[in-house]
Parts: sequence; structure tokens; C-alpha cells
Amino acid sequence: MKILAIETSCDETAIAVVDATGDEKAAQFRVLGNALLSQVEIHKEYGGVFPALAKREHAKNLVPLLEAALEEAELLREDTQAISQETHDAITKLLEREPTLDEQLLAFLAETETPEIDAIAVTAGPGLEPALWVGINFAKALALAWQKPIVAVNHMEGHVLAALARGEGDALEIKDVAMPVLALLISGGHTELVLMKEWLAYELLGQTRDDAVGEAYDKVARMLGLPYPGGPEVSRLSESLRTPDVGCPTPYILPRPMLHDGTCDFSFAGLKTAVLYLLKDRDGLSDDEKAQLAYEFENAVADVLWKKTSRALLDSGARTLVIGGGVSANTHIRRVFTEKIASEHPGVELRIPSAALTTDNAIMIALSGFYRALRKEFADPAALSASGTRSLA
Ligand code: KG4
Ligand code: ZN
Repeated sequence: MKILAIETSCDETAIAVVDATGDEKAAQFRVLGNALLSQVEIHKEYGGVFPALAKREHAKNLVPLLEAALEEAELLREDTQAISQETHDAITKLLEREPTLDEQLLAFLAETETPEIDAIAVTAGPGLEPALWVGINFAKALALAWQKPIVAVNHMEGHVLAALARGEGDALEIKDVAMPVLALLISGGHTELVLMKEWLAYELLGQTRDDAVGEAYDKVARMLGLPYPGGPEVSRLSESLRTPDVGCPTPYILPRPMLHDGTCDFSFAGLKTAVLYLLKDRDGLSDDEKAQLAYEFENAVADVLWKKTSRALLDSGARTLVIGGGVSANTHIRRVFTEKIASEHPGVELRIPSAALTTDNAIMIALSGFYRALRKEFADPAALSASGTRSLA
């Protein structure tokens, strides 16, 4: 089954074509085409993702990325096509708020044949609603023009599946997954522990009561005068102090919020505020002090994430642990989880996404699209809408 997947939930515009075979027990995926544009440089100026700008950039980039992904997949056939007036009008209506996208898409459709794909998968949430809508309306327009079914994908399910996938280069597979699966999803908007008891059925075990962990990273980075996105910057500073086997002596002590409260919930606002207080009476920090503070911040984050995850593993009896979302790229978190799983939960298999699949991309949307299409869970285009808070559980 060939899936064309579209991701526009945040600040990455991505389109992938993935050929999938197999079933829920064992599936193989070949990435035929993968085109992605990050808007990070554009949003840097604003110190965070600016929704109206994200939406405009998605609209500008979707057709060029579609062309690139189909071309790489060798599914682009140029030929003059007659689009019926009815289809033309329906597409223009769908894209009435994005006149440039409408124009680009109609021109593209008029000179290319319908590609040999089986379904279109699109992120329906969670994410920034204006950004999601661009991708959704684009998917609807393609579905209409090409007469293909649409699958509405939950972005967080994409992160879970990307973490479960293994392989190299363009060949991925998802198999031998010991159930249940516990997923720690950590990104700019989410911090949650979700249990997949049965394949693609979720139960929420815990979540943040205030800030997401990526948000805490980004805010602390800003306080330290580091650019957006803050996660990689804080990590770089902190890692500069992590010589093998030698714990860095740091004068700073930050709280580990809710560490011993007996729940699987998180809180990161207090940690951020503690950093703010530390900086309040100071006239800026030296580079060494910034690194020491970043180091202690990362230790506090990793302590809390591990403790809560460990509790959820015990409570749920999960046999596989996955970490997904942008923050799962973090070197220290990966290191702590890899060491702790081996020493404290040796019977649990840890799966972490490859670097390319960690940050937002369309391949992960295609993985989810495949399983949902196998179950014939197609969306009614008329009813398909964006949901910023679309939850997994
Ligand atoms: O999943 P993602 O790409 O977008 C969503 O929020 O959905 O996650 C972005 C978040 C940002 O807060 C960013 O600072 C954080 O992931 N991040 C990191 C690292 N790379 C990205 N946080 C810590 N360490 C990193 N290496
Ligand atoms: Zn994400």
C-alpha cells in the first residue's frame, strides 16, 4: 500500500511517500520519497513558533514539497490533464483562504497525472490549528482531484510508531513489539505517559499539569539568552560539562517537582520559575555558570522523567518503552533512559527513534496512516477538521 503523508502541525512542512506491506504483527516500510522544510530559522526571530507565519509558510511550501516527494518516489508523470470545472471550483472553495496554494495546486494538477498511491494520510492534530488546517485542506483537495481516500492521523501516534520502527536508510520495519507498550511523549506541546495495551488503543497514565518539558527547555534557554529552539542549545551547554564518569560539581540546585507524589503526572512550571529566581538577583551569568545551570536543569528534568516513567512501567507491566517527540532527541535523556532501563527494568525493551525520525516529519504520519488504512479507518472529508488538542487516549 502506497501512502502519501502530509505533516503541517507545527513548524515543519513535510510530505513523504511510503510503500508499506505486512500487517499489525509485522509491517515493512520503504520510504520512496521524503521532502521536508523546517521553518526554524524563520521563527527564531520571534523566539517561538508564530502560528500565522507557520500557516503562510506551509501554504507556500506544500506544492513544491509534493512535487519533490513524488519525483523522488518516481511517481511524478507530467502530462496535460483536464480538470473538470466542478473539481476546479471545489478545490478553489477548499483553498479559498490560501489563494496562492490554490493557484499552485491547480497548475500542478493540470500538468501531472494522478500518482499511483492508495491513500493520503494527514495530521489532524494535535498542533497549531491554523497550521493543521492548511495541511488538511490540501489533503482534501488532493483526495478530491485524485479520488483517493484520506486517513486523519494523530501526530502523537506518529511519534509512538516512529519510535517503534527500526531499520536503516529507507527501509523500516515494525515487528516483534512486546505488549503492552508504554510511551513517554515529550515535545514542545506535550509531556505524557501513554499506555498502548492493545495495538493502537491508548490509555493516558499521566501528563503535565502545566508546562510541557520542551516548553521548559525553550523558556529556560530564553532566560539564558540562548536562541529558539532552546532544547538543543541547553543540551549543548550541559553536555560540555559531562566528561565521562565525572559528575560536574555545580553550585546550583533546582527542584524535582512532584518527584515523590505517587502519581505519573508531571509539573515543569516550578522548575522554570526556580531558574527565574536564581537569575533574578544576578547581573547575568558567565558562560561557565550558564553551562552549570543548564547541567543542573537537565539533571532535574531527566530525574523527573525517569522516576515517573519507572513508576508507570511498574504500575502497567509494560514490556516495551518508547520515547518520542522532539525532546527525545536529547542526549542526556537518552543516556539516562538507556542506563536506567538496563539496570532497573532489564525485562523491558527500550525503543528510541532514529535521529531523522525524532523531530516532526511525514514518515511517521505515513506509518500511522498505513495501520489506520489497514483497518479501513478512512475520514469523511466533509467532517474532517483540525483539532489542536486531539488526544491519543
Ligand atoms: O516534537 P517537536 O519537534 O514539536 C512539537 O512540539 O510537536 O518538539 C519540539 C521541542 C522544542 O521544545 C525543542 O526545544 C525540543 O523539542 N527539542 C529538544 C531537543 N531538540 C528539540 N529538547 C531537548 N534536547 C534536544 N536535543
Ligand atoms: Zn511532534
